[in-house]
Amino acid sequence: MSIPATSPAPVRPLPAGPDLRAEGLRLAYDDRVVVRDLDLLVPPGRVTAIVGANACGKSTLLRALARLLAPRAGAVRLDGRAVHRIPTRELARQLGILPQAPVAPEGLTVVDLVTRGRSPHQTWWRQWSGADEQAVRGALAATGLTELADRPVDELSGGQRQRAWIAMAVAQETPVLLLDEPTTYLDLAHQIDVLDLVTDLNRRENRTVVMVLHDLNHACRYADHVIAMKDGSVVAEGPPADVVTAGTVEHVFGLRCQVTTDPVSGTPLVIPVGRHHEAAAGR
Ligand SMILES: Nc1ncnc2c1ncn2[C@@H]1O[C@H](COP(=O)(O)OP(=O)(O)O)[C@@H](O)[C@H]1O
Ligand SMILES: [Mg+2]
Repeated sequence: MSIPATSPAPVRPLPAGPDLRAEGLRLAYDDRVVVRDLDLLVPPGRVTAIVGANACGKSTLLRALARLLAPRAGAVRLDGRAVHRIPTRELARQLGILPQAPVAPEGLTVVDLVTRGRSPHQTWWRQWSGADEQAVRGALAATGLTELADRPVDELSGGQRQRAWIAMAVAQETPVLLLDEPTTYLDLAHQIDVLDLVTDLNRRENRTVVMVLHDLNHACRYADHVIAMKDGSVVAEGPPADVVTAGTVEHVFGLRCQVTTDPVSGTPLVIPVGRHHEAAAGR
C-alpha cells in the first residue's frame, strides 16, 4: 500500500501521562447508591473540570478516584492496575488529593503540613533529602506562603488555609492531582491565583489535574476537558465549548442562561437569567 503524498494535518498527540480511568463504577454510602455505572477516562496530561449541582456525586467520584472510597462495583484503574491493589505509599507517589473540607491537626504549622506531602517519598534509610527541602520550599513559594510558613494552619484565614493544603499537594509532586473545589473560601483574585497555579503545574510539569469546580466560567477557562454530572451520572463531557451550552446548563442545574464568549479567553461565558430578568432575556 502506498503512502498518500499529502497526509492530513497532524492531530496534537496526547502528552504522555498516567492512564487513570473508572469502569462500571458504582459508589454508595450504606445502601444509598450515589454513582452508578460510571465510565470515565481522565485525559492524561490535561486539566479536567467536574461540574454539576450540589450533591450530584462529584466529591464521591473524586474520593473514589483517590481510593478513599471503595467501589461497590467496577474499578478505578491507574495504568491498568486497580487502585485498590496498589500499596498506599506507591499510590501516594502517583496521585495526590485535596479533599473538599480538610482539617489540619490543632497547632500544626504551614511548613509542617507541607512537609507531610513529602512522606510518600521517604523511606527508613532516606528520611529527608535536598529534594524534599526543595519541594517544600518550592510549594510554599508557588502558593505565596513563605512568609506564613511558621504559622499554625488553624489560625489562618480560610483562603490562606486553602493555599496551605494546595501547597501540601504540590509538594507531594504526584503526576496526578485531584482537587475538590480548590477555590472555595477564596476571594476572586486568589481564586484566579490558584487556577493559574494549577495551569502552571499542568503546563510546566505535565501534571494531570482533575478538579471539581463550581464556577462554570472558571471551568471553561482553565480546563481542557469538562465533565458534567447529574444524579451520579456523566451527562456530557468534552471540550468546554461542546459541553457548556445553554441546553446542558439548563439540564444539569435547572437554570436558564445565555452562553456568550469570554472576551478575555474566548471560552464560553455563562450568563444566568434568573426569575427577575426573564423578560429582559426574552422568553
Ligand atoms: N459520608 C457520607 N455518608 C453518607 N452520605 C454521603 C456521604 N458523603 C456524601 N453523601 C451523600 O452522597 C451524595 C453525593 O454527595 P457528594 O459526592 O458530596 O456531592 P457533591 O460533591 O456533588 O456536592 C449526597 O446526597 C450526600 O448527601
Ligand atoms: Mg462536593
